Amino acid sequence: MDVKRTPWNPPPGTGGRRHVLIAPSVLAADFAHLARQLEAVERAGADAIHVDVMDGRFVPNLSLGPAVVAAIRRSTALPLDLHLMVEDPDPFLAPFAEAGADAITVHWEACRHLERTISAIHELGCLAGVAVNPATPVAFLSEILPEIDWLLVMSVNPGFGGQPFWPRARHKVEQAVSLRQDRDRPRVAVDGGVDEGTAPGLVRAGADVLVAGTAIFGAPDPGEAVVRLRRIVTEALGPT
Ligand code: DX5
Ligand code: ZN
Repeated sequence: MDVKRTPWNPPPGTGGRRHVLIAPSVLAADFAHLARQLEAVERAGADAIHVDVMDGRFVPNLSLGPAVVAAIRRSTALPLDLHLMVEDPDPFLAPFAEAGADAITVHWEACRHLERTISAIHELGCLAGVAVNPATPVAFLSEILPEIDWLLVMSVNPGFGGQPFWPRARHKVEQAVSLRQDRDRPRVAVDGGVDEGTAPGLVRAGADVLVAGTAIFGAPDPGEAVVRLRRIVTEALGPT
């Protein structure tokens, strides 16, 4: 089945050059003014919106469900990248796809039959990602790698925004990049503690997607924060 959107295709005009996606994480947004905040990051050139779903079981926190995802869908044209921090996520895949998810990432640690879950996500017309906690080796994904679109390296223990970056994540990004057979798939994403200080090292390690919550929505002007992060990413990519 065709995917609804392709959040990680380079935007027009990049001419085949490496394009690192910036995905602001709404967990750090002001939910009372979400539409306005989404508009600001979209206008500033963000590539996708990262939406954290927490169940209070897989992680010790609760966040949001399909109704909020549907509201986000109505408020932005950007692709929605859902990060399910949910134990046994299968029953929630269809409701989130119907709510407007373009990509759904599940956790390696939370799925008993990961391949079945990945297939179910694809059958719903979404791109499929797998996330690994800091303690989980990326090598555990070697068998499933050709089937997934997105490999999410957690650079914090999931559950909360605003935590300090776990430096070994850079090494895991390098490992993920070298593990894949295909140059562009799966895209390697990093989530947790990504900011102007940690982004350059991650870009140099080969990350394709930077998820940033506090660094963007915690800034006084989220749009300006996207522009600044983009500038730093471009500098880190160097001359092409
Ligand atoms: C953490 C979430 C992250 C979070 C990142 O469990 O998965 O997406 O929003 O927030 P920052 O960028 O503040 O670490
Ligand atoms: Zn996340």
